[in-house]
Amino acid sequence: MRPMLSAPFLVEMIRIATNMYDHGWDERNGGNISLMLDEDEVRNYLDLTAVTRRISTGFETPELDGKYFLVTGTGKYFKNMQYDPAGNLGIVRIVDRGRAAELLWGLSDGGSFTSEFPTHMMSHAARLSVDPENRVVMHCHPQNLLSMTYVHDLDEREFTRTLWRMSTECIVVFPEGVNVLPWMVCGTNEIGIATAEKMKTARLVVWAAHGIYGSGKNLDETFGLIETAEKGALIYMKIAHLPVLNTITDENLHQLEKRFNVKAREGYLD
Ligand code: 13P
Ligand code: ZN
Repeated sequence: MRPMLSAPFLVEMIRIATNMYDHGWDERNGGNISLMLDEDEVRNYLDLTAVTRRISTGFETPELDGKYFLVTGTGKYFKNMQYDPAGNLGIVRIVDRGRAAELLWGLSDGGSFTSEFPTHMMSHAARLSVDPENRVVMHCHPQNLLSMTYVHDLDEREFTRTLWRMSTECIVVFPEGVNVLPWMVCGTNEIGIATAEKMKTARLVVWAAHGIYGSGKNLDETFGLIETAEKGALIYMKIAHLPVLNTITDENLHQLEKRFNVKAREGYLD
């Protein structure tokens, strides 16, 4: 058995969470991440029969039965993850049609996984149904996307089109656009169900007055996705109150589609 702290998935998780904190996206315990792991990968570091605890989830995701996740703990600070990985993270196996999670490693102070576990697991199930390569669900509170939800129309087409116009890279990185949920109580099954539904048509889901969820094939790609949308929002918040003299037109966006071989969300371009 190899030492857990040498596992590449754990090292990468710590590196990404630390970077997210450094970007100001994860104040205090803000944000949470879940990374789906391959059983064969986990087996190198853990005895898969040694379950330390069984934790009820309060929802069902039968699609995820038997799947393994590295997940952040509730109330844990991203900034502290690097100093105490086992206290801030856990590795769980989903069992009993998603109604429970078996803890195999971590959450060493007796804590539980993130309060947003419903949104994470339901979003994994939703993303896997449209992209079998999806492995990551990531949540954080980036300043500019959050600010934008207070001053911009929350209509998904309008929100997306504004971001696409704020930086040339946006449509290339997220051609399917950004989905948006109105303000809802967080940490509930209801917001999990609503987010997962939105995740079927886009990898980014904004939670108004709260933050954003991103999903993707790996941690780096998902971080980059959120980073690009947040950069678009940063430009928007810098210029929203100024007279705009130049912009990226729909014609320009069509040119980008062609050059980078991406297809903008149906009906989002004129
Ligand atoms: P947790 O500490 O439970 O992960 O909650 C943080 C958060 O961002 C809630 O949306
Ligand atoms: Zn949050």
